[in-house]
Amino acid sequence: MATAPASVRTHDPLAADLTPAGARIQLDEWNRYIPPRRPIVPHIRIGHRWINVLWAVPIAAAALIILIAVAQELRQIPAIEDFIRRYPGVAQAQPAVPGFPGWMRLQHFLNMFFMYFIMRAGIQILADHPRLYWNRDCTPGTEWLRFSHPVPAYRMWTAKDDAVSLPGWLGIPGLRHSIGLARWWHFSVNFLWTVNGVAFFVLLFVTDQWMRLVPLTWEVFPNALSTAIQYASLNFPPPEPWSRFNGLQQLTYFFTFFIAAPVQIAMGLLQGPAFSNKLGWLGRVLNRQVARSIHFLGFCWFVFFIAVHGVFVFITGLRQNTNHMFAGVESAHWVGLPYFIVAMAIIIVAWLWASPFTIKHARLVQKTGRFVIGGLKGLAERWDPTSELTEKDISPHHWPNQHLLPDSPEYKAMLAGGFADYRLRIGGLVEHPQEFSFADLKAMPKQSQITTHFCIQGWSGVAKWSGVPMRHIVELVRPTKQARYAVFYSMAFGDDGGRYYEVHPMKNLRHKLTLLAYEMNDEPLRVMHGAPLRLRCENELGFRMVKWLAAIEFVHDYADLGAGQGGYNDDHEFYGHRMPI
Ligand code: HEM
Repeated sequence: MATAPASVRTHDPLAADLTPAGARIQLDEWNRYIPPRRPIVPHIRIGHRWINVLWAVPIAAAALIILIAVAQELRQIPAIEDFIRRYPGVAQAQPAVPGFPGWMRLQHFLNMFFMYFIMRAGIQILADHPRLYWNRDCTPGTEWLRFSHPVPAYRMWTAKDDAVSLPGWLGIPGLRHSIGLARWWHFSVNFLWTVNGVAFFVLLFVTDQWMRLVPLTWEVFPNALSTAIQYASLNFPPPEPWSRFNGLQQLTYFFTFFIAAPVQIAMGLLQGPAFSNKLGWLGRVLNRQVARSIHFLGFCWFVFFIAVHGVFVFITGLRQNTNHMFAGVESAHWVGLPYFIVAMAIIIVAWLWASPFTIKHARLVQKTGRFVIGGLKGLAERWDPTSELTEKDISPHHWPNQHLLPDSPEYKAMLAGGFADYRLRIGGLVEHPQEFSFADLKAMPKQSQITTHFCIQGWSGVAKWSGVPMRHIVELVRPTKQARYAVFYSMAFGDDGGRYYEVHPMKNLRHKLTLLAYEMNDEPLRVMHGAPLRLRCENELGFRMVKWLAAIEFVHDYADLGAGQGGYNDDHEFYGHRMPI
């Protein structure tokens, strides 16, 4: 174990066990307790049966063939041909100036570029808990889609055991349980994508380009139907995209930009405790797992849209389409193709570069992510979660997620003695440093709350937590004016060696739902869940709520603790130390 820097000696003695961490991922050491484990082909649950989604391929192929045959037959019917003549495809007037302006072409490329990273990072996030549910409690067997085998019943199966690895060309960075880095990619590129989207929205409406996308007449529906029959019969409608889109294009683009993208943003945000807990009944109806499932279906829509859109670029006229969207000209020559090839080359190079770069420069990715999105993400802490649930919401199952339980002889002796010898040390920048026994803590005011636990890996669970409100402890020890953070030291060590710890800003400690919990569901906390004492801080993700609490130290800064990132997972797994989303 590395020696602690000299400055650490002024901290709580436990700080000496915090270890520094490297700036890159060492592949042979990365999550050594969970070697690579492949996902399986997704299986979907219909009733009690699990169906391999690959069945969708022959079914879709057969459906497509039938659709083409039916559409071609339909076109033999005079009434249908009359309908197509009446509604040839285009529903409304075109913008005054036809063509695709430079800003639109640039934004189209940026959207395409960002989207690939968002989707790859999204898949990597999903790989950390490869199951999707409609119920908040995530009880194994109740998922509707899984990318992993059923949870084994013969041994304890932690959420980390459940994570799967991905090929580096698919996920970013592909490694098992690399969600910390995938989230930086996902959130930072989401931010750029959203800025691009907002700029697009503004430019659409300051010009008259919005007329391409926004249907203004009900006639868009018969025109869309007519276009669909024409495409399906393989007798395509005459293309007019230089000036305006046909009904089917208009509805699809409208749905994708004005509905799917905002829903995707909203469902992303609702997966975070700060938003979900703040929104009362809405946060309960669209709970984390519902939001997560809708977010995944949104992802499927974007994959489908991009695939069909890409195929149509080729089959409806590659020359014309690339001229329009990449060169901005209506021409009989291949003017746009070179631009298109360069654009695709940029995307392919960036695609191949992303995972190796992330592995080699993991700390840089973390710092860049924090720079781009950390402040905005931290702002959500101000959302002050208030949402409490009821007894009937309590989950039948709560995923375990720690491999290394505290196993020192001292801990075992305390456990055997019912924690009668337990002491919680509180010091640092406080007026009254104190040590509390377990009996002292239990004699303090007791608070109970039923709340959702949001694990960074994607699962959630509801439990009733009881213990001492942290604000009561703050009043007893009286932090000085210099104290800006509290460091929570655990009795356990992390997977990478070194003591587990987390740093919280003072605001979290004064929140009315921040507890030092010693009971879960009206029973003494079990070892797996942090006995004898753990933190509950409801506006943060679960890993920030330190279990097996040994000491709390108030500090002005945390740069000299561990690798200086503000917590064990931030140091070793490149998470962020403010995690309200
Ligand atoms: C601003 C827009 C977006 C926001 C704020 C957002 C936010 C999030 C959040 C918070 C998560 C869960 C992270 C976790 O559990 O640790 C997530 C996961 C995911 N996102 Fe997004 N996202 C956005 C856009 C998108 C888009 C456009 C796509 C795809 C087209 C996408 C695909 C995914 C996927 C596949 C997952 C994994 C699902 C899961 O396991 O939770 N996201 N996103």
